[in-house]
Amino acid sequence: MIAHSSHPIIEFRRLHRYFGLTQAVHDVSFTVGRGQVFGYIGPNGAGKTTSMRILATLDLPTWGDAFVDGFSCINDPDRVRRRLGFMPDYFGTYSDVNCYEYLDFFARSYGLVGRERHRALKHTMSFTRLDELAEKPIRGLSKGMKQRLCLGRAMIHDPSVLILDEPANGLDPRARIELREMIRQLAADGKTVLVSSHILTELAEMCDVVGIIERGQLLAVGSVAEIQKQQTPHREVKVRVIGSARSLAEWLGARADVSNVKLEGEFCRFTHEGERESEAALLRELVLANFAISEFGSHSQSLEDVFMAVTRGVVQ
Ligand SMILES: Nc1ncnc2c1ncn2[C@@H]1O[C@H](COP(=O)(O)OP(=O)(O)O)[C@@H](O)[C@H]1O
Ligand SMILES: [Mg+2]
Repeated sequence: MIAHSSHPIIEFRRLHRYFGLTQAVHDVSFTVGRGQVFGYIGPNGAGKTTSMRILATLDLPTWGDAFVDGFSCINDPDRVRRRLGFMPDYFGTYSDVNCYEYLDFFARSYGLVGRERHRALKHTMSFTRLDELAEKPIRGLSKGMKQRLCLGRAMIHDPSVLILDEPANGLDPRARIELREMIRQLAADGKTVLVSSHILTELAEMCDVVGIIERGQLLAVGSVAEIQKQQTPHREVKVRVIGSARSLAEWLGARADVSNVKLEGEFCRFTHEGERESEAALLRELVLANFAISEFGSHSQSLEDVFMAVTRGVVQ
């Protein structure tokens, strides 16, 4: 038996999936490290579901491959399946089944027996907080409860990788927060999570790394801060000055690292190229030039702006 711990836990290697002329996934490569939460972000039709389904061994690539713990989704689907749990973006209807029976069915399908099955059910129901709903028929569940049940089904066999396709879709704010907590807990328990969304801000705070995909192609991979930095090497600055706002605007306008200077009463707004360090240096220069600065604030572009800048917002 080969030791597989040296492999990345998830790897997409030059993955392609075409449907006729539609390039649903085109040459996507990236890896996810053990215990990471990877946010897979892209507008509708970007290719998220298609690539996740291939990783979950539910579809085959046109070209390239995907790997879980070093095992190929094409050549070793059984080993891959044992290591991962997939939560699809839809939930079938099972009218007369209750939550316990539903999870028990999947526990049995994964070959869990006796005490092991009992333990798996107990852990899963308590983790997804479905204990009190055990006897409740699925048809009576809210969207949030169904999502938890779906997550329970994906984790019943204690996989090391969880693939969650748009789990926050359609959830109310409270259910979203609960979902986020559960994903954090999964990561704290050492699981690797690949989670998709078409809304960057929805995932930003819980992901270690995000990958932005559009029209089948991966446009950027990195931590949210890294991507933000790549896309926005400039910051928006707002300064309040006592007295001479106009001369401040002129002074700023003469600088190469400043653009879009706007006067708004006592305030002067402008775009500054550079890092926070050079911004601090600019403030020092302003003070040394005898401008009476009473406020100095800045921010980089919002995550939504970054997302819009990376993707062109085109849906296939
Ligand atoms: N079974 C299929 N047959 C034909 N086209 C498909 C099929 N599945 C997905 N597509 C197309 O592939 C593209 C990517 O879809 P999908 O992976 O579902 O995107 P996402 O999950 O990011 O919204 C879309 O253009 C979609 O219409
Ligand atoms: Mg999808």
